[in-house]
Amino acid sequence: MKLVVVGSGYVGLVAGACFSEMGHHVTCLDINQEKVRRLQKGEIPIYEPGLSELIHRNQKAKRLLFTTDYETVKSAQVIFIAVDTPIGEKGEANLTFVGQVAEKIGELIDSYTVIVNKSTVPVGTQAWVHSIIQKKLQERNLSTPFDVVSNPEFLKEGCAIEDFMKPDRVIIGADSEDALKIMKEIYSAFTFNHERIITMDPASAEVTKYAANAMLALRISFMNELSGFCELTGASINKVRKGIGADNRIGTKFLYAGPGYGGSCFPKDVRALKAHAEKLGYQTPILEAIETINARQKKVLASKIKNYFNGNLKGKTIAIWGLSFKPDTDDMREAPSLTLIDELKASGANLRLFDPVAQENAQKILGTSSSLTWCENEYEACENADAIVLVTEWKQFRFLDFNQVKDRMNGIAFFDGRNQYKPEEMFKLGFDYHGIGIKSMSYDPSLASRNR
Ligand SMILES: NC(=O)c1ccc[n+]([C@@H]2O[C@H](COP(=O)([O-])OP(=O)(O)OC[C@H]3O[C@@H](n4cnc5c(N)ncnc54)[C@H](O)[C@@H]3O)[C@@H](O)[C@H]2O)c1
Repeated sequence: MKLVVVGSGYVGLVAGACFSEMGHHVTCLDINQEKVRRLQKGEIPIYEPGLSELIHRNQKAKRLLFTTDYETVKSAQVIFIAVDTPIGEKGEANLTFVGQVAEKIGELIDSYTVIVNKSTVPVGTQAWVHSIIQKKLQERNLSTPFDVVSNPEFLKEGCAIEDFMKPDRVIIGADSEDALKIMKEIYSAFTFNHERIITMDPASAEVTKYAANAMLALRISFMNELSGFCELTGASINKVRKGIGADNRIGTKFLYAGPGYGGSCFPKDVRALKAHAEKLGYQTPILEAIETINARQKKVLASKIKNYFNGNLKGKTIAIWGLSFKPDTDDMREAPSLTLIDELKASGANLRLFDPVAQENAQKILGTSSSLTWCENEYEACENADAIVLVTEWKQFRFLDFNQVKDRMNGIAFFDGRNQYKPEEMFKLGFDYHGIGIKSMSYDPSLASRNR
């Protein structure tokens, strides 16, 4: 089938590459000329494991093209909209880009086309997009048939290809049998061994996406809230997690306490759902709480560090390991590291930063400052550091030469924002170890083998 995917970001690029891998002829369309120019040359503008190989293979086979030319939508049987829907002024989803794409489609199509909305959009958007295209066609005195389908995307950055190729489910919100048939055909390749397509009306599909993200954010915020309680009572959030996760009704996933959730989806989508409900005069105290807890949690690491140094961070050097909002991505949007860096910088600390992949994006956001030193690797970041903070649990941080780490440091404080290490082992190695929701193992001056 001839497909056009509008928007070549994390979702559009992955969707385009995966559709082409299944044999479809895909054109990825974006208004960002620089991005398209790079993609045409085979340069991949984002970091996503496996994406570059997939794009190169399909580019070579001429099944995957990149363009800025909207004329390409004329030849498409199906057009996917995968543009960004950022946070608006009042927390609502800003649909400007979706609206612009719909207008362009209405100005150009001249034969039956299925328009599929993959961007995360509020309930009612499918009908709105339909009305925009209809209006443009009327202005052209055309009665070209078309359908608009809601097909929210659930991929996770960091394992987006795997998620897209083997989805837990594919949600299709359609009110036309013709469109549904085409959508099922497109997705049949991805759901070959197991029927994973769930069909519903467009409005329910649109709400499903927000409901999924809000539920996941809720689980994280719940565990983060409990982690503070565990610290006050001597319980361990890790043990509590295992204890409750063993219950089938609860399950083990998304129960990890940490420095707060970030990324381009959870914060934006929780806010947008809340804003939409507010507009309808409907109160959503759970959504409110998810956000409040997350905002507090994003400050937990900074507060632990300040307490450790008795409130005085002036002239202290802090190493930060990991900057992206989670491992295996270069995405810095709403990353907890940004809140931590702001707080520590404001308190007069000098920061030595390292991320295996997101460093370039982080530099663009944080700019240059005498209090920030960008490092080549995790060991260099520890040079003369009074403390280390692990913010993002990249795999390469799992097994390190901690003797070398400690030798390079000036102090011995270690703040583990992801509970990645065993407190007793870190203590034995000579660190003052602080995790999230677990007992700290603090420096004991009577232990002669440890030195500051
Ligand atoms: N990133 C994720 O993990 C993820 C997962 C599921 C759903 N989503 C949703 O998918 C949508 C896209 O997210 P993303 O992270 O891929 O965004 P992104 O910011 O990475 O990419 C969006 C792309 O759309 C392009 N664009 C904007 N307006 C355009 C227009 N008028 N015509 C053509 N191109 C245009 C931009 O130039 C950009 O390249 C959002 O609604 C998001 O909430 C994202």
